[in-house]
Amino acid sequence: MHRPTFSDAHLAARAWFLGRAAAAGLETRIDAAGNHSAILRSSSAEAPTLLLGSHLDTVPNGGRFDGALGVAAALEVLTATQDAHVDLPYTLEAIDFTDEEGTLVGLLGSQALTGSLTPDALQAPRGGRAALLAGLARAGLTETRLADARRDPRSMAGYLELHIEQGPVLEHERVDIGIVSAIVGSRAFNLTFEGVAGHAGTTPMDARRDAGLAAATFVVGVRETVVRDFPSCVATVGRVTLEPGAFNVIPGEAQVALEFRSADASQLDALEDALVMRAREAETLGHAVEIEPVGRWEPVPLDTTVRTAIARVARALGLSTVELPSGAGHDAQALAHVTPSGMIFVPSVDGLSHQPAERTAWDDCLNGAKVLLGATLELAGALPVSEPK
Ligand code: GLV
Ligand code: MN
Ligand code: MN
Repeated sequence: MHRPTFSDAHLAARAWFLGRAAAAGLETRIDAAGNHSAILRSSSAEAPTLLLGSHLDTVPNGGRFDGALGVAAALEVLTATQDAHVDLPYTLEAIDFTDEEGTLVGLLGSQALTGSLTPDALQAPRGGRAALLAGLARAGLTETRLADARRDPRSMAGYLELHIEQGPVLEHERVDIGIVSAIVGSRAFNLTFEGVAGHAGTTPMDARRDAGLAAATFVVGVRETVVRDFPSCVATVGRVTLEPGAFNVIPGEAQVALEFRSADASQLDALEDALVMRAREAETLGHAVEIEPVGRWEPVPLDTTVRTAIARVARALGLSTVELPSGAGHDAQALAHVTPSGMIFVPSVDGLSHQPAERTAWDDCLNGAKVLLGATLELAGALPVSEPK
C-alpha cells in the first residue's frame, strides 16, 4: 500500500470510505482538517459523540492493515448498531483522521480536532512546508482554517481505536487482544551536514570535507548512544539524502531524517541533548550543522476506565488479553489529552509492519472488531457484560 497523505490513492481510499458510509445510509462529514467521518446519531439531541477511528493514509510502501483496520471496523460498528436498531445515549462517529503517518505533519487531523496543532508544527512540518501547502491545496483545505476542526471536549464521550500491534508481543505470547496502557512520545528532526562538493577523482582523501561521511558517522553514532546510554529508547535515521548525488561528486550536503521515541518524557529530553551533541561533533571537522525540530509528540497514558471496559468485553467473548505500551504513534495520542481514550491491539504476523508483508489473520481482525463493538456498547451503558465465573 502506498497512500501518502493526499496522494491519489489516499484520496480514493477516503472517497471509498465515505461512499460505503453513504450507501449504508449514514450521515457523512468532512471537517476543516479533512478528517472524514460517518455518523450514526443518537435520538437524544444533546448526546455526546463517541469517536471510533484510525487513519487511511500509509507510510511509503506500507502494509494493508495499519490504520485501515481501525477505520473499516469503526464503520462496521456503526452499521451493526444501525442494523440492530439500537438507540444509544451516544452519537457514534467513525472517523478517518488526516495524515496520521506524518507524510506532512503527523497526527495532523487528530491534533486539529483536539486543538493541539501548533503554528510551529505547521511552519516546520516534517514533510516540508511546500509539500504541506501543496497537499492541502490538493485536498481543498486551507491552512488558516485547519483550527476550525477543533471540537469542544464536552461534545465528546470518548475515543476508541482498533489497530494492529505492529510488533511481536501478542503473537509471541499467544494472546488475542492487547490493551494499550500508554503510547510512547517521539521527536523528529531534519539535520543538514554541510561539506564541500568536489571531484571524486582528483581530490585526495585527506583533502575532502565529505558531507556524506559526516552523515554516516552520525548515523552510526545515534545507534551507539542509544544502545549504550538509553536502553528504554529507540532511534531511527529513516532517510539520508546526499547532494548533488552522483558517482563522481563528493557530497557537498547531506540531509538526515532522525526520529526517536520513549515512554518517558525525561528520557526524550536527555536523548535529544545527547544526539544534538553527536551531530555537533561534525563541526570539529569543519562541517556546518543545522538541526531543525520537525515534530514533537508527548507520551500519554490511556484511560483506565476504557481499558477496564475493553478487558471485560474481551473476557466475556472468551478472548485472552494483556496490557502493553504502544511503541507506535497513534491518533489516540492526541485524543487522550481531551477525552477518555483507549486502544485495542490485535496480533501482527511476525511482528512486521510499515512494510508490505504486514499481516493480521482474519480471525484476529474479527476478534478486534467484536471487542471494538462490545467496548462501544459497554461504554454507552447498553451492554452490561457479565463476567464469566
Ligand atoms: C505511526 O505509525 C508511527 O508510529 O510512526
Ligand atoms: Mn497506524
Ligand atoms: Mn503507521
